[in-house]
Amino acid sequence: MHQDPSKKYRPFPPVRLPDRQWPNRVLTRAPRWASVDLRDGNQALAVPMNVSQKLELFQALVKIGFKEIEVGFPSASNTEFTFNRRLIEEHRAPDDVWLQVLVQAREDLIERTVESLIGAKKAIIHLYNSTSPAQRRVVFGKSKKEIVEVAVRGAQWIKDRLARLKGTEVMLQYSPESFSATEHEFAREISEAVMDVWQPTPQRKMILNLPDTVEVAMPNVYADQIEWMCRNLKNRDSLIISLHTHNDRGTGVAATELGLLAGADRVEGTLFGNGERTGNLDIVTVALNLYQHGIDPKLDFSDLNSVIDVYERCTGMTIPARQPYAGELVFTAFSGSHQDAIKKGLAEWEQKRPSTQNQDPSTQAHWDVPYLTIDPTDIGREYREVIRVNSQSGKGGVAYLLESEFGISLPKDMQREFGPIANDAVDKLGREVSGAELKAMFWQEYVERNSPWRLNGFETESKNGVVKCRAKLSRHDQPVEFSGEGNGPLAALVHGFGTTGVRFEIINYSEHALSSGEAAAAISYIQIKTADGKSRWGAGVDTNIELASVRAVLSALNRL
Ligand code: KIV
Ligand code: ZN
Repeated sequence: MHQDPSKKYRPFPPVRLPDRQWPNRVLTRAPRWASVDLRDGNQALAVPMNVSQKLELFQALVKIGFKEIEVGFPSASNTEFTFNRRLIEEHRAPDDVWLQVLVQAREDLIERTVESLIGAKKAIIHLYNSTSPAQRRVVFGKSKKEIVEVAVRGAQWIKDRLARLKGTEVMLQYSPESFSATEHEFAREISEAVMDVWQPTPQRKMILNLPDTVEVAMPNVYADQIEWMCRNLKNRDSLIISLHTHNDRGTGVAATELGLLAGADRVEGTLFGNGERTGNLDIVTVALNLYQHGIDPKLDFSDLNSVIDVYERCTGMTIPARQPYAGELVFTAFSGSHQDAIKKGLAEWEQKRPSTQNQDPSTQAHWDVPYLTIDPTDIGREYREVIRVNSQSGKGGVAYLLESEFGISLPKDMQREFGPIANDAVDKLGREVSGAELKAMFWQEYVERNSPWRLNGFETESKNGVVKCRAKLSRHDQPVEFSGEGNGPLAALVHGFGTTGVRFEIINYSEHALSSGEAAAAISYIQIKTADGKSRWGAGVDTNIELASVRAVLSALNRL
């Protein structure tokens, strides 16, 4: 890296907007969304999508609820043109979905683009040219005036051909590409020059898309630029102001959210932020961020996993594990204290959640679970994946997995004993463990402890409130038999043990039926305390609850 970065790079000049309004606003509704997955997203893929992949992704976008979809750059290749034709000729776009197409300000390309739209129900023709100083100087070698002429000529060529799209409802869109790196006065000048050609009205608006083509500044600067444009452009009420952010500085989402506060109406982006370089804006994140604040995003991500499947299959991209909302690990806690807090938060939510959808909103409980910004089940993720266990996890996570996956509900005190045992084992493995592996550890530690004590038989009879037992056991494979009596089978067993010199008392006891998989079995948890003050937990499983308890006592003795 450079010793003195200021010799090579310079700060981005801020916009002078001392009375900026956006910092005091809040978002209250969803913007119009436009997906650019099939165009900006596609042109950033090493292997662009073929027609059938584009068709599959298009259907998925429609299903999610996008009403404006940039389907491609029809003049750029035969694949792009054919794709557009198939959408139209095979009536694949619902009547309320706008097919958006991108084109440069060149007459031959505009001609082909218009041709690609014949027969469409609704179409957005999106014209762009680059406007920043670097683009003007390095790429085009043109003055500001010449760059304006390029845009105006392009706008006119489109206007001249609109009569060819009879029966198609057409909306026009202009992007001063690299807007955020352009002097804002010049961005206004060129946008107004295009408006002069297209003559938008409040009834027939045009879209003015203001791209953060390359993020060159902090998101507050983009917000200032958007607010400045919203306040200074003529005929604002004839415009749909649209945002199109990329993510070069990692703040594409923030720039869009602040841009919406600054007055924009529409957002362009892609699923999971696919797009050139660091990607386009991730629409899933912005939509679900709105949802997290109780705003209907008007996009349906209730089955996010199937959206991920289609996206990965069609684009060949993968979703990073930490991708907001969608990543494999984003609803997962490994750390013990987080697991404990989530477990308690979810338990509280189970108690207070509204029982019906129609409940009076004023009395409805709101989601407030530590570490989980939204309920994972709202987007088709499961509680089960929330808590996972590795060496960072504590007893809470271990207990949660055993309970949620196998219905094994360890008493609190026993969690304190088994938690560190499981943690040591996981630490040695040096990796994450599954619920099934934890259960196997539990079984090995407690349920399958058959030495030195083993159960061979146990019978009881009860008379006048007194229970007598007859126990047939072995110790180190040597038979041991005894009788005992007490006010219940366990008391009788403890008494019988005492007659052989093995003295202890039962200080904790609980039991429950085991759920799925353990056909009609019960599990019993018992904590014993020996005469010399040692205490141990034991667990026993049997189809007979009395025998499950006896086994639990032997398990505890075997662990002394
Ligand atoms: O990033 C960009 O500026 C674009 C334009 C074509 C809108 O993709
Ligand atoms: Zn872009």
